[in-house]
This record gives sequence, C-alpha cells and structure tokens, in this order.
Amino acid sequence: AHGTNGTTAAEGSPVTSPAGERGPARVEGSRRLVGRPVDRVDGVPKTTGAARYSAEHPYPRLAHAVLVHATITRGHLTAIDTAEASAVPGVLTVITHHNAPVLKPPPPVSVMNLSTMASGTSVAYLNTDEVHWNGQPVAVVVAETLHAAQHAARLVRVTYRESPAAVDFAAEEPNATPQKNDMVSEGSAKKGDAEAALAAAPVSVDLRYTTPAHAHNAIEPHATTAVWDGDRLTVHDGAQNVAWMRDHLALRFGVPAAGVRVVAPYVGGAFGGKTVVWAGTILTVMAARVTGRPVRMTLTREGVYRTVGGRTPSAQRVALGARPDGRLTALVHTGVTQIGRVGGGPEQVTSQSRHLYDAGNILLQQSQVALDTVSNTYMRAPGESIGTFALEAAIDELACELGMDPIELRMRNEPERNPIDGKRFSHRMLREAYAMGARRFGWAERTPEPGSMRDGRWLVGMGVASAYHPAWQFAANLTVRLSADGTVLVRCGFHEMGMGGATAQAQIAADALGVPFEAVRVEYGDSDLPTGPGAGGSGQTASVAASLGTACARLRGTMLALARRSKDSPLRGSRRAEVRARDGGLWTSPAGTVAGETYAAILARAGRPHVEVAVGSDTRVGTAVGQARFMAKFLLDRRRWTKAACGAQFCEVRVDPDTGEVRVSRWVGAFDVGTVINAKTAAAQLRGGIVMGIGMALSEETLTDPRTGRIMNPGLAGYHVPVHADIPPIDVCYLDEPDPTMPLGLIGVGEVGITGVAAAVANAVHHATGRRVRDLPITPDKLL
Ligand code: MOS
Repeated sequence: AHGTNGTTAAEGSPVTSPAGERGPARVEGSRRLVGRPVDRVDGVPKTTGAARYSAEHPYPRLAHAVLVHATITRGHLTAIDTAEASAVPGVLTVITHHNAPVLKPPPPVSVMNLSTMASGTSVAYLNTDEVHWNGQPVAVVVAETLHAAQHAARLVRVTYRESPAAVDFAAEEPNATPQKNDMVSEGSAKKGDAEAALAAAPVSVDLRYTTPAHAHNAIEPHATTAVWDGDRLTVHDGAQNVAWMRDHLALRFGVPAAGVRVVAPYVGGAFGGKTVVWAGTILTVMAARVTGRPVRMTLTREGVYRTVGGRTPSAQRVALGARPDGRLTALVHTGVTQIGRVGGGPEQVTSQSRHLYDAGNILLQQSQVALDTVSNTYMRAPGESIGTFALEAAIDELACELGMDPIELRMRNEPERNPIDGKRFSHRMLREAYAMGARRFGWAERTPEPGSMRDGRWLVGMGVASAYHPAWQFAANLTVRLSADGTVLVRCGFHEMGMGGATAQAQIAADALGVPFEAVRVEYGDSDLPTGPGAGGSGQTASVAASLGTACARLRGTMLALARRSKDSPLRGSRRAEVRARDGGLWTSPAGTVAGETYAAILARAGRPHVEVAVGSDTRVGTAVGQARFMAKFLLDRRRWTKAACGAQFCEVRVDPDTGEVRVSRWVGAFDVGTVINAKTAAAQLRGGIVMGIGMALSEETLTDPRTGRIMNPGLAGYHVPVHADIPPIDVCYLDEPDPTMPLGLIGVGEVGITGVAAAVANAVHHATGRRVRDLPITPDKLL
C-alpha cells in the first residue's frame, strides 16, 4: 500500500551534506522539539505495567516450554531417557533429536553475509546428536504449566560420549590465528615501522592487558511466545532485528517469510544480546509447531548465560613510543579474542587505535581463537569497550613515564586527519570535550602524584580516558501519513529497547512537518511494518532520521502541490523555497504578511482523507536491493570520511587502603555526539553506558570452569553488575555540534558511553594507590 510514492531506500542517503538539496539537515524552521528533554512516549505504559513484553501475551491454550541443557563440554548424545519426564502430569511432549521435526539447516554464521548474520550459532538444535558446548540445549519439555515443564526438565536423563575440547582462553591464546581484512572489518593495519620506532623511542611502555568474558544481563531475559496458524507464524520476541528474525525463522521452518510476523514493541533492554537468533527462539517456535499450541518460553537468567553469547575475553598488547615532549612515534595494539567454534565473530579491539592518536608509526593486529563454548556475540560497543580499556590505560601509563598530565599528552597527539590513513574527519571535537569535561570535573585540582589525595582514610584518585565509537547508518524503509485531522503516522520496523528511539523520531517528524509532538504517532517493533534498521551499531536513530527527513520533505512538497492546484488556496503561486512548515500547515511570510493554511484545510479542500509518502521498497527483493545499495554507498562514504562519536570520561574513585574496596565517587562524561535529538534520552543512554562500563571495570566477569567449559556464575548472585548504591551521580554533557555529514547532524549515543570507562577507572585507581591493575575487573584482592 505504501508503494505508490516509493523510492529506493538509498534515498535516505548516508551523505547528507549541509549544502545538499535534500534530507533533514535543511528542515525548515527552527528546532522546536529536537534537542528538548521530551518524556518518552513509551514511558507511561512501561512504568504503569500496561506495556506487554514478549512473555506477557495471553493466548488461549498457552503451553510452556523449558530447555534441557547439555552438561558436557563437547561430544555426542548416546541416549536420552524421557520416560520419567513424559509421565509428569501436564507434560505435553518432550522434544529431543529423536522426535524433533527436521528443520532446514541454519546458514553458516558469517558477519560478511547479510542474509546469514542472523544465526547465533550454526548448530541445528535438536536435529543433531552433537554437543558443541556445555549448556547447549538438548531437549525441550512442553507442558500445560510452567511448573510442570520445569519439574519434568529435571527428570530428562541424558548420557553422553565425550570428545576432547578446548575451553580455556588463557591456555589457547598462543594458538590464535590472525584476522584478515574484509569489507566491513579491519583485522590489521600498518603505518610505517612501529616496532622499529618503538625500539628507538626515548620513552616507551610495552604492556599487556586482559579482560574477562562478559554475559548479557538485560533486565528482561530472552523470552518468546510463538503461535502457528497453518503455515503462518506470529512470534513475540524482544528482538533487536525483527526482519532478521522473521527471515531466519522462515528459512529454518521452510515457510514463506511473508507469513511470519515478529512483534516486539516492548523490549526490556538488549545491548546486542538480542540481535541474532538464539536457541530459545527457534525451539519455542518448534515446540509450538509440534504441539499445535501457542507456546511461551522465558529463559531463566541461567538459561541466558548458557544459550546466548556474551562478550569475548581478550588479551591485548599496547606498546607506545614517544619523544620526551610526548609526541607519539610508535603505537602498537594487538589483541586476541575468542569466538565459538560454532559461531560468533571477531571483536574489533583495535578499532579506536586507528583514530585516536597521531602516531608516526602504527601497527594493529587482531587475532582469534575458536573454543568449544557458547558463541560470542555483540555487546555494547563490541571492540571499543575493551579496546579503549587497553589503549587508554596505556596512554595513562605513558603519561606517568613522561611525567606529563594525561590530558596534555592526549592533546599533543590529537590528529588533524585520521592517523592510520590520512582520511578527513567529518568533524572532531575531542579537544573541546576534554576542555568541557575538565572544567566541570575540576581536573585542575588534581595533584599528579599517586596517593597524594586523601579524604579521611580513603585514598582519592582521578583518572581520564577517551571515548570513541564509529558512526553507523543502515537503510530504513518507512511511510509517513498525514491525515485530515492533523495527525501524523510514522511506520517503520525499527526497535525500541528503552533508549527512546520512537520519541526521538516523533520529535524529528514534528519539527519537519511543523506539527505538535502530540500529533505524531510512531509505529515500530513489528516485522510487518516497512523494514527498518536493526538496533545496532548505535546507528538506528540516524538511519531512521535520514529516511524520515526525506519522507517529510516530500510530504511538504505534496501538500504544497495539492494546495496550489486550488485557486482558493492562499498558497497558490507560492514557491517551495518560500514555504515553511509550522503550526500544523504551510505558511509563507513575505514582508510582514502571513499567508498559508493548515494541512487539514488543504486535505479537506482536496477531498483527501490523508496523504502518505513511502521511502524504500515494500517488496522483499526491493528491500534487499535497497539495503545492498545503501551499504555500498555507506562503505564508499567511509572511505572518504572518518566519522565517529567521541568523548572524555572523568572518574574519581575512593579506595579503602585496608580492604582494597573501590568506590566510584564522581563521574563526568563530556561527549561529541553531533546533534542531540532528545536531551533526556541521550543523557540516559550515555549514563547507562557509563554504568555498564563501571561494572566492567570493577565487578563483571563470566567465570568458566577450564576443565568443563561450564559457566560457573550464571546469574546475578555470582555475576556482579553495579547496583544503584554503586553508582554516583553521573554528570553527562555534550557539545551538541552537528556532524555535517550525518542526518540532522546526529551521531548515535548508544555505545560511545561505555567506551573509555574502564580505563578511566583503572587510571583513577592508579592515581589513588600507585597500583596498576591491567587485568579486569579491578576486584579488591588485586589491590592488596
Ligand atoms: Mo549493539 S552491541 O550494536 O546492540
């Protein structure tokens, strides 16, 4: 229905020049809503409990499914005894590889192939007798009640034949293989001869940093409700990419994608863990297929740890050589990360090291080991989260070697152009971010000597680190409808995991069309909507904004054309350039006189209930072509510009010298994220990233038994995320200067907030105590 005015998705161009002739950068009128701290449109339903999450959809005859997990590292199933489980009253079926329907095999996991990126792993769940990791699902119990299913799941008896396995990252690290460069990921890079420059440098550091695996702990554990109607399937699942999930399920179950609907208007946090499709989703759909009943599965917290990937552990080397004046002559950053033998992908731990320092010689190399563990996956700023820990802690160590202020060292090496290849920055305001942060934090009061600041018995430390995350954009199909009652409906299959994306788009549409915020409704989180971008790479808001700007510009044009058709319209004879969208209509104001009319009046005269504009295609093939074209254009644009969000993280810690307890007592984050669309939700995103980074710095660690590959702390009792009492007030500020190459000048805020945080904490801990902890998390034992 939205094909009439259709154009390719590429029209929401990644390159929106300020001088360009289309796109939201030249939205008429002032920013009335963009930038304001508007409350989230989904805030009230979420806080009052009216919002229905994936496990809260009531269906008649709803059955409940529970997973049975393998308890060996690797091997084969030799027998599964389901008799006792099946005899539990209320159990409908126990599905194993003996009786499971045969699905189409999962496509090989590859980050290079857009159509197969959706596979969390390459395992054909319940269609194989192979066990690839400790925790892989080997059976599903379906019952009338959750309790019956839980009870019966414990009664499934599994026997195995074990095979040799490798699960110990530290032991396997020497076997890592170097990552090659491809179109989207850069495994290595080189400028000059960094090792020689390092050897010749008058001042240098050569350091090893290690970070542990991290588990996804979204407040809403993964949950799925699946309902079949013939070959049509409806799935409620908190996906970060409803289109990928739809396509993956259609492929696996051999049904047309057009009949598969993935619905996720409410998602209780995601952070990358709900981007690809994991076992729970597939097996819930299978259980519904087998039983002919609607089926719900809510993973336990432990179930998330066992079946959903997390962040890789890493071992990194950062070596820096400098002249006595602090100018860097050598920057070496290499890192080993872990992937699963059955899936996952390399982490770009050296990403920020291409961009942050103007070193004369640079050597970057990423390597991987494949282990028999659950596959790794995306987690908030994959690459830069742990990469900035190593790089930014090493810079601090070099500053100490030089006897130089760590901010001064950074400013002396602030590049004019992208260090690794000389590309231009679309804009870069790291200097300004440091200046702003230092002022607000009171950096000048810091005395440089470690251990020199105290508050009673507490040792006080102050540390800084740079934040960095590249800007991403993806294709976004959408429709915008302007109705005779003055309301605007934006429809786009993008995702709202709590970050305020829908609110931001409503603000943008309201400004672009000159209507009140309340007049705009945004529909999202449904694969039946025009295909939007996935919520990933902090690219969603810019992606949707680009297409939304295009659509709104065309709507204004269409409305003006409609008005000009009538001789009664005050806009008759008006040229497009003179017309402004405001007060619910189009108005010209030549020399004191005001002429114009409301959209309602224009539509009423034209006898039209509404006008709708579509950007992108409404067909699968058209969408795929549009996405490919958009990505090609985006990658081309990347060769021209280096564009990113960056920032300066300022941390103050208090360390108890007797117990080694570290308390973060103050935080200032100053960011360059381009235009801020919503001052409240952007700050919340940045703050949330900082909280997650504090967890990474001080407490978070997935512990795997090196003998069995079993995760030993699969829950919040053993895996410590920060609680409210651990977090000080966090002062977030931003420069709010538009990036001239991004839609509306905005750069995503979802991920940059976590980057640099762990380094700022580690640097502050060193300042407080004189102790360098290069192995995260910085637990009290490491300070004693
Ligand atoms: Mo993110 S790790 O791009 O959800």
